[in-house]
Amino acid sequence: MLGRETTKDPCSDIQDITENKCNKPLMTLKQKLIDFLLENASSLSEIYEALPDEKETTIRGRLNENINKCFKRVGRGIYIATIGETQCALIEGNAWDKIKSFEDDSFDAIITDPPYEALNKQMQTGTTRKRNLNKGFDFETRDLDLEMFGELFRVLKPNGHFFCFMPSAKHDTIDYIHAQVKLAEQAGFTFNSQWVWDKKVISLGYNGRPRHELIMFFSKGKRRRINNSIPDVLTHARVMGKKRVHQTEKPIELLIDLLKFSTNEGDTVLDPFAGSFSLGMAAMLTKRCAVGIELGKEFLDAGFKRMKDSLGFNINTT
Ligand SMILES: C[S@@+](CC[C@H](N)C(=O)[O-])C[C@H]1O[C@@H](n2cnc3c(N)ncnc32)[C@H](O)[C@@H]1O
Repeated sequence: MLGRETTKDPCSDIQDITENKCNKPLMTLKQKLIDFLLENASSLSEIYEALPDEKETTIRGRLNENINKCFKRVGRGIYIATIGETQCALIEGNAWDKIKSFEDDSFDAIITDPPYEALNKQMQTGTTRKRNLNKGFDFETRDLDLEMFGELFRVLKPNGHFFCFMPSAKHDTIDYIHAQVKLAEQAGFTFNSQWVWDKKVISLGYNGRPRHELIMFFSKGKRRRINNSIPDVLTHARVMGKKRVHQTEKPIELLIDLLKFSTNEGDTVLDPFAGSFSLGMAAMLTKRCAVGIELGKEFLDAGFKRMKDSLGFNINTT
């Protein structure tokens, strides 16, 4: 485990490092890349821009050298990614079964985007959106039940936060939202507040063009207080087009906000419905550890590929 979140080193900006403003010894390209990637979720073009003195081919070379060192298959259906002391584990399987293997009070926080059924009906009507034409999501759906809420409560540490994504409240989702909050409370969770994810992009609809989703904030007893600077409306553009690796992928920056609100560096978070493991990416970029469970092998593979392509190397190679 790493220590508590520390105040930012004023000389840790990549700009300061590249300009050597702080009179620190000049860093190797590899170290600059590590520092930059740990501070920013980046595309290649952003890395090139942040390291103007380095040749693009050299940057690509350093990243490529370390690809494939990132993931280890440690057992049947269990994969581990390591960067320094930060580790992410991804477990293939059914969350209802796999969660039983964790001990009580194992995780500092739970952040998840469950495969709820509430939108299935909406998804099956309409003739324009691809997902409507496909007659639904391209993954298995199942609502969280009392058994799952009970397990989530059991494996969360006392005072830990539990963030659960939900659809926006509409005529056909409002009952689902209320029922889920009630089930969570029945399992022992304290409901704290409703947060909003502003997706910055409007979708189709006739009750006001929708551009937000809800995130319910629960805790196991009184919530721990870590970072009071994060607002309850989080504005980050929906992941779209070729960049998207999962149909309902959540932006990494959004998950980083939730992680910073709920955890310290070195803490461990759980996502029992990991999808492309966006939470794992966000955790690695902010020095948290993460455990994900995912039923769909194709999403696990897409998540691995994204981690390799973006983080691409095992930082612990001294
Ligand atoms: C809403 S998506 C999560 C997407 C994720 N937030 C991302 O950014 O990629 C829910 C995921 O839960 C998975 N899922 C469905 N049933 C499951 C189950 N019983 N156990 C584990 N995962 C399940 C689906 O395959 C899907 O990838």
